[in-house]
Amino acid sequence: MSVLRLDNLCRSFGSLVVTHNVNLTIAAGERHVVIGPNGAGKTSLINQMGGQLQPSAGRVLLDEVDITGWAPERILHAGIARTFQKNNLFFNLSVLENLRLAVQARRASGFSVLRPAAARVDILARAREVLVQVRMDADADRLVRNLSYGEQRQLEVGMALAGDPTVLLLDEPTSGMSPAETVGMIDLVRSLPSSLSIVMIEHDMNVVFSLADRITVLYYGEVLATGVPAQIQANARVREIYLGASH
Ligand SMILES: Nc1ncnc2c1ncn2[C@@H]1O[C@H](COP(=O)(O)OP(=O)(O)O)[C@@H](O)[C@H]1O
Ligand SMILES: [Mg+2]
Repeated sequence: MSVLRLDNLCRSFGSLVVTHNVNLTIAAGERHVVIGPNGAGKTSLINQMGGQLQPSAGRVLLDEVDITGWAPERILHAGIARTFQKNNLFFNLSVLENLRLAVQARRASGFSVLRPAAARVDILARAREVLVQVRMDADADRLVRNLSYGEQRQLEVGMALAGDPTVLLLDEPTSGMSPAETVGMIDLVRSLPSSLSIVMIEHDMNVVFSLADRITVLYYGEVLATGVPAQIQANARVREIYLGASH
């Protein structure tokens, strides 16, 4: 059964169609990479999964529950998390403090002042767990403003993981990274729990083919092809679009 399903999803901005009858299923634990030329509608598609953008028509289903039109916060609580480039990092706090706040925000009950000590210990334990997941245990006490660009992006993944989501959305997590940072991010994504479904937009073909269980190619808002890497590599129309690329 699919964890996430897009059913005939459509979105337009005026006369510009950015999502055109997109059907897509993401299985539990699947690493699904979305590729396509600039302006193909990749970010718009992810935004509709996360609730940042409302579809014009069609449905988004999480565990077969129709979440179309839900507010981003409600979708996040339902289990679809995403990274926001730097927007949600506290630069004057440490790495661990950032993660602790992210866990706390996900578990907020409205009576945080009265939260028993046991719950605080639990929150810290989860923050430490995420710290290890994003391979930053050695950086726990460093201030975020002293982290490198790549380390900050690593932490952003941790912030998204804080609430233990079932689906993680990543929009070009390696963009702007050095080759070494890119390798680190690939390793990190690959090491995440196998139960976690990941939908990732990526332009670096080495990253795409080293991570993807399945790939979807978007072209002018439409799904040109979906399949395992070998099927995508063998697809004549995909090859046409990526003519000159190494894959
Ligand atoms: N809020 C918006 N208003 C109008 N046009 C938009 C908006 N957001 C994106 N677009 C347009 O939609 C198209 C798809 O954009 P986007 O989803 O960001 O593509 P990609 O991530 O594949 O580069 C682009 O032509 C872009 O200019
Ligand atoms: Mg984009």
